[in-house]
Amino acid sequence: MRHPLHSICPYFAMFPESFVAEQLFAYTRPNELVFDPFCGRGTTVLESLLNDRRAIGSDINPVAACVAGAKAQVPDLLHVLQQVDELEKSYHSSDHDAVAQSEFFQMCFHPETYSEVTFLRDNLDWRNSSVHRFIAAVLLGILHGESHRSALALSNRMPRTISTKPDYSVRWWKKHGLNPPRRETFKILREAVAFRYSRVPPRKQGVVVEADSRTAGDRFLNFQGQVSLVVTSPPYLDTTDYSEDQWLRLWFLGGAERPATRLNRDDRLTVVGDYWVFLQDIWAGIVKLLRPEATIVVRIGGTRLSKEDLFEGLQTGLQFAMPNRKIRPLHQGRSSEIAKRQTNSFRPGTKSDRMEHDFAFRLG
Ligand SMILES: C[S@@+](CC[C@H](N)C(=O)[O-])C[C@H]1O[C@@H](n2cnc3c(N)ncnc32)[C@H](O)[C@@H]1O
Repeated sequence: MRHPLHSICPYFAMFPESFVAEQLFAYTRPNELVFDPFCGRGTTVLESLLNDRRAIGSDINPVAACVAGAKAQVPDLLHVLQQVDELEKSYHSSDHDAVAQSEFFQMCFHPETYSEVTFLRDNLDWRNSSVHRFIAAVLLGILHGESHRSALALSNRMPRTISTKPDYSVRWWKKHGLNPPRRETFKILREAVAFRYSRVPPRKQGVVVEADSRTAGDRFLNFQGQVSLVVTSPPYLDTTDYSEDQWLRLWFLGGAERPATRLNRDDRLTVVGDYWVFLQDIWAGIVKLLRPEATIVVRIGGTRLSKEDLFEGLQTGLQFAMPNRKIRPLHQGRSSEIAKRQTNSFRPGTKSDRMEHDFAFRLG
C-alpha cells in the first residue's frame, strides 16, 4: 500500500515512488545518503527515508520546498493537532475578518472559508517551524480541487493538479453557475492531517532547502562528499511553467494575488542549448556533495529531444561539470511511456513527446 504521505499534494511531472525504490535497492545500502536537486514534492526524499536511507533535497519552488520539507521532517501527530487547535482558538478570538476583494477570491472561496484560509496564510510560519510546515503542506493539498466530488477541497470547483488562471476560472464558474461551498477549514484540516498519519511516518529525518540547486553544494555544508545516489528529474524542455501552474498555492505561501512572473529565468526552458547549459550548471553546483563513486539517476523527457540526444547531452554535461571524474553510463537508457497522471495531465492537449527516459551514470 502506498504511504499516504506521498500524496499530500500533487505536483508537476512527479515520478512514482516505485521508480525511486528501484534505484535505492540497486545502488545504495541502508543509511547511505540520497539527494534530489529537483526534489519537487519530495518523492525521492520520502521514499529514501521510508527505506532507511538518509535523504536531502532542494528545489527553487516554495510549493516544493514546503511539501517536500514537510515529508522530510514529519512532526509528531499530537503536536500538529495541538497546533491546529491553537490556531483555531486564536482565529476565533482575533478580529480577523478578511473580505475577498477580487472577483476571483470572492468566487473561489466561501466568505467564511476565505477568512479562515487567509488567517492561516498570515499565521503559518512554514519556513521556520516543521509543525507549521506540515500544516501548510496539508492545506496546499486541499486548497483547491474537485469540490463537487471531494468534501475536503476548500475551493469552488477547480482541478486539484494545477491552479487555473483567475480570469478563466471566474468565466468558467459563472458559465456553469457554480458558487463556492462553505467548508469548515479547521475541521477539514484535522481530517486531512489524520489521514496522512494512517501509516507510521519514517523514523529518519531528512533536510530540504528552498534553493537554486546551482548553489546546493554550498547550501548543504554538512553533507559535502557524502551523497551516494542522486535520483532526480529536471524540468523537461518546453514542458511547464512552474510558477503559473501553481499560482494559488504560491499565493497561500505568501505570494501574489495573481499569477506571478517566473520564479527564475530558467522556469520554462525552450532553447536546447540553454537547457544543456542549465543542467551542466546544476551538475557543477552539486559536485561537492557527491562521494567519489556516486551514482546519478536521471528521469527525463521532453519534446524535440530524442533518447539519444538526451543520453549524449547528459553525459557530456556531467563530464564537463566534473572534469576530474570519470563518467560511466550504467546502461544506454530505459524508456517508458509518460504515465497519465504525470506531465501530460498538467497540460492536456499539448503535443508532447509521450516518452520519458531513465539514465544512470557512475562516477569514478
Ligand atoms: C520535474 S519536477 C521534479 C518532480 C519530482 N521528481 C517529484 O516527484 O515531485 C522539476 C523540479 O525542478 C525545480 N527546479 C527548476 N529549476 C530549478 C533550479 N534552478 N534549482 C532547483 N530546482 C529547480 C522545479 O521547481 C520543479 O519542482
